[in-house]
Amino acid sequence: MTRFSSSVSNLRSSEIRDMMSLATAVNMISFAGGMPGNELFPLDTIDNIINSLTDNEKQVAMQYGPTTGLPSLLESLSDWLGKKGLPVKTNKLILTTGSLQAIHILAKAFLDPNDTVLVETPSFIGALSAFRAYQADLITVPLNGDGMDINKLKMRLETTSPKPKFLYYSPNFHNPAGIIYSQEVKQQMIELLKDQEIPIIEDDVYSDLYFYEEDVPKMQLIKSMDPQGIDVCYTGSFSKILGPGLRLGWMLVPESIYRKCELIKQSIDACSPSISQVIADKFIREGHIDDYVARVREEYKKRGLAMIEMLTKHLPEYVTFEKPRGGFYSWLKLPDGCDATKILKIAIDKGVVFVSGKTFDPDGIRNDFMRVSFCNTDVETIKRGVPILAEAIREVCEN
Ligand SMILES: Cc1ncc(COP(=O)(O)O)c(C=O)c1O
Repeated sequence: MTRFSSSVSNLRSSEIRDMMSLATAVNMISFAGGMPGNELFPLDTIDNIINSLTDNEKQVAMQYGPTTGLPSLLESLSDWLGKKGLPVKTNKLILTTGSLQAIHILAKAFLDPNDTVLVETPSFIGALSAFRAYQADLITVPLNGDGMDINKLKMRLETTSPKPKFLYYSPNFHNPAGIIYSQEVKQQMIELLKDQEIPIIEDDVYSDLYFYEEDVPKMQLIKSMDPQGIDVCYTGSFSKILGPGLRLGWMLVPESIYRKCELIKQSIDACSPSISQVIADKFIREGHIDDYVARVREEYKKRGLAMIEMLTKHLPEYVTFEKPRGGFYSWLKLPDGCDATKILKIAIDKGVVFVSGKTFDPDGIRNDFMRVSFCNTDVETIKRGVPILAEAIREVCEN
């Protein structure tokens, strides 16, 4: 019998990954994946960038690079993040192989087996799996419409032993809950965590994809507030604003954490793909990024609004949902005890796939929620898919 490590034997394939094969089946309407629409990638711009590379740039692209990232991209990305209010001068940036790697590296930097970690319920499954891989105990804090339940966070901080190693949260257009954290909740989190030696991992991959300019001020990141007495480890990515195929993300962290993370990354993959870094650097330096993000933002808004309209029209009144104001997801609340996996099976038979709630429950139990994404389906497909989804819900919840 093959003897795997205890950390690996705890790993389970998530329903979301298993569903990916179905999501790509011909004619299946997919509300499952959290990826950009294929037709939205800036192919002409990428062609131009690749075709205009000099021999020297091509050599850099084909070569190993520094562990923390190519200097040119570190500089251009740093400028871009700085313009958005992030404290790039007083922190250090590391380019990573997707932001999921940034989360993994931070988990490795902080966690020993049986350590505790504060996470939201629901939470991004990729981060939960990373923390589980380092054998952490996940201590949950429920989400309300404006962020985590502060009383519960306070209670968790008072009662969790051993003391949590860090808090992981996602401030804007939460995956899967779709919410934006309010300023008040972020301020209260800062008050509670100040001088507690509990760093915050702030996972921010969707902030650029807002539907309404007026939301931008309240979407201010804790990292941008630069609170004293808390180490804030900010993670971001090109995945949702350019292309996940680049596998390029980043972390912006205090210097002491940076030094450890650099060593960890060195031991994992030496460096992130140079070819992706060269492309991303040109994409920023040639001034494409803001125009492109503005364009996809408009398209996701159309899709998001079509999703809201169709859900409002077709869902039974006992299903409620947070109206998304950006990002990729709607999060549907079914009547208590209603089983989203049963709905999923019926929906798949009818040709529609989504992700059931328990995938995002750190305890893996609550299944009376559904994550429905609108990023990878055009408006017409959303219009065809939602009535089918509503039919599947009725078949399960009314029988
Ligand atoms: C909240 C959140 N964080 C991080 C990631 C990881 O993205 P990537 O590793 O592609 O940068 C995702 C991807 O779905 C996500 O939804």
